Amino acid sequence: MNGHEGFSRRHVLGMALAAGGFAMSGVGAVFAETLQRTPGEILGPFYPVIKRVEQGADLTTIPGRQGRATGQVIHVMGRVLNVEGQPVRGARIELWQANAQGRYSHPSDTNPAPLDPNFEGFAVQNTDAEGQYRFKTIKPGAYPATANWMRPPHLHFDVTGKINRVITQMYFPGESLNDKDLLLQNIRANKESLIAKVLPPTADVEPDSLTVVWDIVVDKG
Ligand SMILES: [Fe+2]
Repeated sequence: MNGHEGFSRRHVLGMALAAGGFAMSGVGAVFAETLQRTPGEILGPFYPVIKRVEQGADLTTIPGRQGRATGQVIHVMGRVLNVEGQPVRGARIELWQANAQGRYSHPSDTNPAPLDPNFEGFAVQNTDAEGQYRFKTIKPGAYPATANWMRPPHLHFDVTGKINRVITQMYFPGESLNDKDLLLQNIRANKESLIAKVLPPTADVEPDSLTVVWDIVVDKG
Protein backbone atom coordinates (compact mmCIF):
# COMPACT_ATOMS: atom_id res chain seq x y z
CA MET A 1 0.00 0.00 0.00
CA ASN A 2 1.10 3.57 -0.57
CA GLY A 3 1.03 6.24 2.07
CA HIS A 4 4.01 5.30 4.17
CA GLU A 5 6.18 7.95 2.51
CA GLY A 6 7.12 10.64 4.98
CA PHE A 7 6.71 8.39 7.98
CA SER A 8 9.78 7.43 9.93
CA ARG A 9 10.58 3.75 10.25
CA ARG A 10 9.97 4.02 13.96
CA HIS A 11 6.58 5.59 13.34
CA VAL A 12 5.62 2.84 10.93
CA LEU A 13 6.73 0.19 13.40
CA GLY A 14 4.67 1.89 16.08
CA MET A 15 1.65 1.92 13.80
CA ALA A 16 2.21 -1.72 12.97
CA LEU A 17 2.32 -2.68 16.61
CA ALA A 18 -0.70 -0.55 17.40
CA ALA A 19 -2.73 -1.94 14.53
CA GLY A 20 -1.53 -5.47 15.08
CA GLY A 21 -2.34 -6.13 11.51
CA PHE A 22 0.92 -5.73 9.63
CA ALA A 23 3.04 -8.61 8.49
CA MET A 24 6.84 -8.33 8.66
CA SER A 25 9.09 -10.65 6.75
CA GLY A 26 12.77 -10.82 5.91
CA VAL A 27 15.42 -8.18 5.75
CA GLY A 28 14.01 -4.76 5.00
CA ALA A 29 10.73 -5.43 6.77
CA VAL A 30 8.05 -5.73 4.13
CA PHE A 31 4.84 -4.19 5.41
CA ALA A 32 1.67 -5.56 3.91
CA GLU A 33 -1.72 -4.43 5.03
CA THR A 34 -3.75 -7.38 6.26
CA LEU A 35 -7.51 -7.24 5.78
CA GLN A 36 -10.03 -9.47 7.44
CA ARG A 37 -12.03 -11.80 5.26
CA THR A 38 -15.67 -11.01 4.67
CA PRO A 39 -17.69 -13.50 6.72
CA GLY A 40 -19.92 -15.92 4.87
CA GLU A 41 -23.62 -16.33 5.40
CA ILE A 42 -26.17 -18.90 4.26
CA LEU A 43 -27.37 -18.92 0.67
CA GLY A 44 -30.92 -18.54 1.95
CA PRO A 45 -34.14 -19.94 0.50
CA PHE A 46 -34.54 -17.39 -2.28
CA TYR A 47 -31.50 -17.94 -4.48
CA PRO A 48 -32.95 -17.38 -7.95
CA VAL A 49 -34.28 -20.33 -9.87
CA ILE A 50 -34.34 -18.24 -13.03
CA LYS A 51 -31.28 -16.08 -13.59
CA ARG A 52 -31.57 -13.53 -16.36
CA VAL A 53 -27.91 -13.29 -17.29
CA GLU A 54 -28.50 -10.47 -19.78
CA GLN A 55 -29.68 -8.23 -16.94
CA GLY A 56 -26.42 -6.31 -16.79
CA ALA A 57 -25.55 -4.11 -13.85
CA ASP A 58 -28.84 -2.18 -13.77
CA LEU A 59 -31.59 -4.05 -11.93
CA THR A 60 -34.07 -1.14 -12.06
CA THR A 61 -35.26 -2.08 -15.54
CA ILE A 62 -35.84 -5.43 -17.21
CA PRO A 63 -34.43 -5.86 -20.71
CA GLY A 64 -37.20 -5.46 -23.30
CA ARG A 65 -39.66 -3.79 -20.93
CA GLN A 66 -40.55 -0.12 -20.49
CA GLY A 67 -41.21 0.18 -16.76
CA ARG A 68 -38.89 0.91 -13.88
CA ALA A 69 -38.70 -0.76 -10.51
CA THR A 70 -40.39 1.05 -7.63
CA GLY A 71 -38.28 2.02 -4.65
CA GLN A 72 -35.28 4.13 -3.77
CA VAL A 73 -32.48 3.81 -6.28
CA ILE A 74 -29.16 2.74 -4.83
CA HIS A 75 -25.79 2.55 -6.51
CA VAL A 76 -23.90 -0.28 -4.85
CA MET A 77 -20.19 -0.27 -5.52
CA GLY A 78 -16.92 -1.44 -4.09
CA ARG A 79 -13.99 -3.71 -4.68
CA VAL A 80 -13.16 -7.34 -4.24
CA LEU A 81 -9.82 -7.57 -2.47
CA ASN A 82 -7.65 -10.30 -1.03
CA VAL A 83 -6.38 -10.16 2.55
CA GLU A 84 -3.23 -8.38 1.39
CA GLY A 85 -5.35 -5.59 -0.05
CA GLN A 86 -4.73 -6.54 -3.66
CA PRO A 87 -7.63 -6.21 -6.12
CA VAL A 88 -9.25 -9.42 -7.33
CA ARG A 89 -9.93 -8.87 -10.99
CA GLY A 90 -12.43 -10.93 -12.93
CA ALA A 91 -14.29 -12.14 -9.85
CA ARG A 92 -17.85 -13.15 -10.68
CA ILE A 93 -20.41 -11.37 -8.51
CA GLU A 94 -24.00 -12.54 -8.36
CA LEU A 95 -26.44 -10.23 -6.57
CA TRP A 96 -29.99 -11.16 -5.61
CA GLN A 97 -32.49 -9.40 -3.40
CA ALA A 98 -36.09 -8.69 -2.44
CA ASN A 99 -38.02 -5.82 -4.01
CA ALA A 100 -38.86 -2.58 -2.23
CA GLN A 101 -41.79 -4.33 -0.50
CA GLY A 102 -39.62 -7.14 0.82
CA ARG A 103 -40.82 -9.75 -1.69
CA TYR A 104 -38.55 -12.02 -3.70
CA SER A 105 -39.34 -12.93 -7.26
CA HIS A 106 -39.10 -16.58 -6.24
CA PRO A 107 -41.77 -19.28 -6.18
CA SER A 108 -40.91 -20.24 -2.60
CA ASP A 109 -41.52 -16.77 -1.18
CA THR A 110 -44.85 -16.84 0.66
CA ASN A 111 -44.66 -13.22 1.77
CA PRO A 112 -48.01 -11.65 0.75
CA ALA A 113 -46.24 -8.38 -0.15
CA PRO A 114 -46.72 -7.58 -3.85
CA LEU A 115 -44.35 -8.53 -6.61
CA ASP A 116 -42.99 -5.68 -8.74
CA PRO A 117 -43.51 -6.45 -12.43
CA ASN A 118 -40.46 -4.32 -13.21
CA PHE A 119 -38.08 -5.95 -10.79
CA GLU A 120 -36.66 -9.46 -10.74
CA GLY A 121 -33.84 -8.85 -8.30
CA PHE A 122 -30.90 -10.66 -9.87
CA ALA A 123 -27.80 -9.55 -11.75
CA VAL A 124 -24.29 -10.80 -12.35
CA GLN A 125 -21.06 -9.10 -13.37
CA ASN A 126 -17.30 -9.53 -13.17
CA THR A 127 -14.96 -7.19 -11.37
CA ASP A 128 -12.73 -5.00 -13.53
CA ALA A 129 -8.94 -4.74 -13.54
CA GLU A 130 -9.03 -2.82 -10.25
CA GLY A 131 -11.32 -5.36 -8.64
CA GLN A 132 -14.25 -2.95 -8.81
CA TYR A 133 -17.93 -3.69 -9.24
CA ARG A 134 -20.98 -1.47 -9.46
CA PHE A 135 -24.71 -2.25 -9.54
CA LYS A 136 -27.70 0.06 -9.86
CA THR A 137 -30.71 -1.33 -8.03
CA ILE A 138 -33.33 -0.37 -5.46
CA LYS A 139 -33.14 -0.60 -1.70
CA PRO A 140 -34.89 -3.82 -0.66
CA GLY A 141 -37.60 -3.84 1.96
CA ALA A 142 -37.51 -5.77 5.22
CA TYR A 143 -39.46 -9.03 5.24
CA PRO A 144 -40.68 -11.62 7.76
CA ALA A 145 -38.49 -14.71 8.00
CA THR A 146 -40.71 -16.15 10.75
CA ALA A 147 -43.63 -14.83 12.80
CA ASN A 148 -41.16 -13.29 15.26
CA TRP A 149 -38.26 -12.37 13.03
CA MET A 150 -38.11 -9.55 10.50
CA ARG A 151 -35.08 -9.62 8.29
CA PRO A 152 -33.51 -6.17 7.83
CA PRO A 153 -32.97 -4.85 4.31
CA HIS A 154 -30.06 -6.76 2.78
CA LEU A 155 -28.49 -7.80 -0.50
CA HIS A 156 -27.30 -11.35 -1.15
CA PHE A 157 -23.90 -11.80 -2.80
CA ASP A 158 -22.15 -14.82 -4.25
CA VAL A 159 -18.58 -13.87 -5.13
CA THR A 160 -16.36 -16.31 -6.99
CA GLY A 161 -12.70 -15.59 -7.66
CA LYS A 162 -10.16 -17.92 -9.21
CA ILE A 163 -9.38 -19.54 -5.87
CA ASN A 164 -11.92 -18.40 -3.32
CA ARG A 165 -15.66 -18.03 -3.06
CA VAL A 166 -17.81 -16.26 -0.49
CA ILE A 167 -21.58 -16.33 -0.22
CA THR A 168 -22.73 -13.56 2.07
CA GLN A 169 -25.14 -10.70 2.68
CA MET A 170 -24.67 -6.92 2.77
CA TYR A 171 -26.61 -4.78 5.21
CA PHE A 172 -27.46 -1.08 5.41
CA PRO A 173 -26.26 1.12 8.28
CA GLY A 174 -28.68 2.58 10.80
CA GLU A 175 -31.37 -0.10 10.42
CA SER A 176 -32.87 -0.98 13.81
CA LEU A 177 -33.63 -4.49 12.56
CA ASN A 178 -29.89 -5.13 12.16
CA ASP A 179 -29.51 -5.42 15.92
CA LYS A 180 -32.16 -8.15 16.15
CA ASP A 181 -31.32 -10.10 13.01
CA LEU A 182 -30.50 -13.70 13.88
CA LEU A 183 -28.21 -14.16 10.90
CA LEU A 184 -26.24 -10.94 11.24
CA GLN A 185 -25.95 -11.22 15.01
CA ASN A 186 -24.73 -14.80 14.68
CA ILE A 187 -21.59 -13.69 12.86
CA ARG A 188 -18.69 -14.11 15.26
CA ALA A 189 -15.80 -12.31 13.59
CA ASN A 190 -15.78 -9.15 11.52
CA LYS A 191 -19.56 -8.72 11.70
CA GLU A 192 -19.37 -4.96 11.14
CA SER A 193 -17.78 -5.54 7.75
CA LEU A 194 -21.14 -6.76 6.45
CA ILE A 195 -22.66 -3.32 6.99
CA ALA A 196 -22.01 -1.01 4.04
CA LYS A 197 -21.21 2.67 4.10
CA VAL A 198 -23.83 5.00 2.64
CA LEU A 199 -22.60 8.19 1.05
CA PRO A 200 -24.57 11.10 -0.42
CA PRO A 201 -25.32 10.71 -4.12
CA THR A 202 -22.67 12.01 -6.49
CA ALA A 203 -23.53 14.67 -9.08
CA ASP A 204 -23.94 12.14 -11.89
CA VAL A 205 -26.71 10.05 -10.29
CA GLU A 206 -30.32 10.55 -9.18
CA PRO A 207 -30.40 13.24 -6.44
CA ASP A 208 -32.62 11.11 -4.20
CA SER A 209 -30.55 7.95 -4.64
CA LEU A 210 -28.06 6.46 -2.22
CA THR A 211 -24.46 5.58 -2.90
CA VAL A 212 -23.67 2.37 -1.07
CA VAL A 213 -20.01 1.40 -0.75
CA TRP A 214 -19.05 -2.10 0.26
CA ASP A 215 -15.79 -3.99 -0.24
CA ILE A 216 -15.59 -7.77 -0.17
CA VAL A 217 -12.43 -9.48 1.08
CA VAL A 218 -11.50 -13.03 0.13
CA ASP A 219 -8.42 -14.96 1.18
CA LYS A 220 -6.24 -15.08 -1.92
CA GLY A 221 -8.34 -14.11 -4.89
FE1 LIG B 1 -32.79 -12.45 1.90
